[in-house]
Parts: sequence; C-alpha cells; structure tokens
Amino acid sequence: MQATEIAKNMYWVGVVDWGIRDFHGYSTPDGSTYNAYLLVDEKTVLFDTAKKGFSGELLDHIRQIVEPEKIDYIVVNHVEMDHTGCLPEIIDIVKPEKIICSANGKKALLAHFHRDDWPYEVVGTGQTLNTGTKTIKFIETRMLHWPDSMFSYIEEDRLLISQDAFGQHWATSERFDDEVDSSELMYQSGRYYANILLPYSTLIQKLLSDVKQLGLEVDIIAPDHGLIWRSEPAKIIESYDQWSRQVSRNKALVVYDTMWRSTEMMAKSVADGLQREGVSVKLMDLEGSHRSDIMTELLDAKAVVFGSSTLNNGMLPRMADLLAYMKGLRPSGKIGAAFGSYGWGGEAVKLINGILEEMKFEIADPGVRVNYVPTLDDLEKCVELGSKIGRLVK
Ligand code: FEO
Repeated sequence: MQATEIAKNMYWVGVVDWGIRDFHGYSTPDGSTYNAYLLVDEKTVLFDTAKKGFSGELLDHIRQIVEPEKIDYIVVNHVEMDHTGCLPEIIDIVKPEKIICSANGKKALLAHFHRDDWPYEVVGTGQTLNTGTKTIKFIETRMLHWPDSMFSYIEEDRLLISQDAFGQHWATSERFDDEVDSSELMYQSGRYYANILLPYSTLIQKLLSDVKQLGLEVDIIAPDHGLIWRSEPAKIIESYDQWSRQVSRNKALVVYDTMWRSTEMMAKSVADGLQREGVSVKLMDLEGSHRSDIMTELLDAKAVVFGSSTLNNGMLPRMADLLAYMKGLRPSGKIGAAFGSYGWGGEAVKLINGILEEMKFEIADPGVRVNYVPTLDDLEKCVELGSKIGRLVK
C-alpha cells in the first residue's frame, strides 16, 4: 500500500489486514485496517501503531515518508493490541523522545509490556503539544472503549484522530469516505458500532456533547480502522448520535434455531404476523447468521422475537451464544418475546424470557410453546404473537 497524505504533512501509514475474519467474537468477513498516522513537522509524530505481525508493512509505509529514526514522539491513543502489538518493535527502532498517552494509557502500557524504562509523557483533556507549525490537542475518552482511550485533534487542520470511534472493520485499498460506496460505508460503520460501541452509548452521547462544548470544528475524522471521513464527517457524527440514542424504526427480527424444523415453522408464522401489521421483518436462522449479523440488524430494530427448540432442558447452544453476546452489548428500548417447540421439558422459552428480563426488554407476551410438531392452530397462535408484537412496534 502507498502512504497517503490526508492533510498537509500528515500521512496515513497504517496497514491493511485483508485476512482477519474474527475480531474477539465479531465476525469480520471483509477484513480490517489498523490505521496509523504520521505528522512530519519540526517534531515528527507517529499516532498509534498496528497489530503484532504487521511491523514490516508499517515501517515500509513510514519509510515512504521519513526514516523511522526521525520520529520524535509516539502518541498512543489506545492501548488495545490491534494498535500496540507492534509498539515494542517500533520503539526499539525509533527510540522516541516521548511516548505520549493518557494516565490510564500509561497504566495499561505498563500492564501490557512491563517496560518502566520507556519515556512516557502523560497528557489529559485540553493539554496541547506544539510540533512546530501544528498544535495537537488531547481529549481523553475514558471507556470509549477502554479506560485509556483518547483522541488527538490537530487544530490547524481541524483533524480528529479518533482511535476506534467512527471506524469500520473493512479492508480496502481506498483511504477516504468519498472513494467507496456510501451505502456500504454506512452499513460497515453501523455493524462496527453495533458490535463494539453499543454498550457505551450513554458515554457517546456525553462525548458528542463534550466535543460541541470544547468548540472543536472537525473537517476530517481519521479513525484507527477503515475509511477516513473527509467529505461527510457530519454524516458519521449524526449517525453516532442516532445509534447512541438507540433510535429504532418500524422493524422487527425473528431470530431462531431449530432441531427438526418445527421451531422454523413457528418462526415463519411469527414473521407473517409481524408483516400483517405492516412491520418490516427479517427472519434470521442462527444456522446461517452469525451473532454479529444479528447485532447489526438489531441496531435499528424495535423488536426481536427469539425462537429455540428445547434441548436437554435448555435452549439450543447457538441461541445461548447469541444471548450471552447480546447481553454484553446492552441494547436498550427493545421489545421481545420467545417461542419454540419441545418434546417433554420445554424450558427454552422460559429461559429466554429470563434473559430478556435481565436485558430489560419489554416482554410483549409470555410466548408460544408447541409440543413436537405444530398444528395449524399452533401456527395461528404464532401468527397472533407476531401481530401482537407488530402492533407494539408501530
Ligand atoms: Fe481497535 Fe479497541 O481497538
């Protein structure tokens, strides 16, 4: 890849990971990038590095602009290892005068790399660093999405280096938002939000208001993953506002797993009932839909109806996996219900309802259970369940 100038004397020098398919449980069928940025000024600054194993490519991209030994400062905006795996190797070569990070960043770097001899310089919100012709302002973004996280803002370029925020896991040869299909870009951004940032939605609301209060005018947003927002930074900020307020639309999901297709028959009837009420419905079989696909669709859905057969007094394993993942991502303001077939115990519906209560879903109905194979009457009950939820969604 080519190093790319993104503002005057500021370059993308990151790496593209075409092959990654799983990011701690989040399916990444389109790969990712680990963006790093290089500011060449009287002081030369590298912002973030990359995942372990990519130091060769990172150094090659830096060398297209300057010799790595010319770098004076390394800013660590986020300590997660997709951005610091290369850091020890890069520090050995660069021998930076300063490693600039938040107070929590220093703690996290020490806990990861156990190097108390590195030249840390701790910064906090509002502190600035002059590099000659440019001024970097630091903004701590604690718990977005790690305690150490911070943004770096280049005042002269109105450029926000936003680490994980506003990113996408999407490997491309293009670097800018206006060089790719905008629908795909928004889909990838929403998928990323739903699977990584959703639990921090309240903090994101606060951050958006803090950024306004700090009076930061932003022309370019350069995240640590995916495309750089130079054409429409306002579009992704507006989307983050919507997503963090968990605004939903007239849409419902029917998510199910099935042993011998009885629960699948029920799922289709529930979907019919939802559609009858004019709700946009998506039927998702866990055999073919990854947990990350479900979360992506959940982002703007008002209701989710969960179906599982009962297996060994519990729900099917893929449903248990989905609910554990979903619970951690803390969706809010959703309507839910459950259904499923069973042979004898029939516990799955009750167990799902218990988890929906823990997630504070509004439970629309105690649910529908069917012994073995549904009759036409049973399927009509499923249609009624879908209709009942549909009337709540509208
Ligand atoms: Fe891209 Fe939280 O690391």
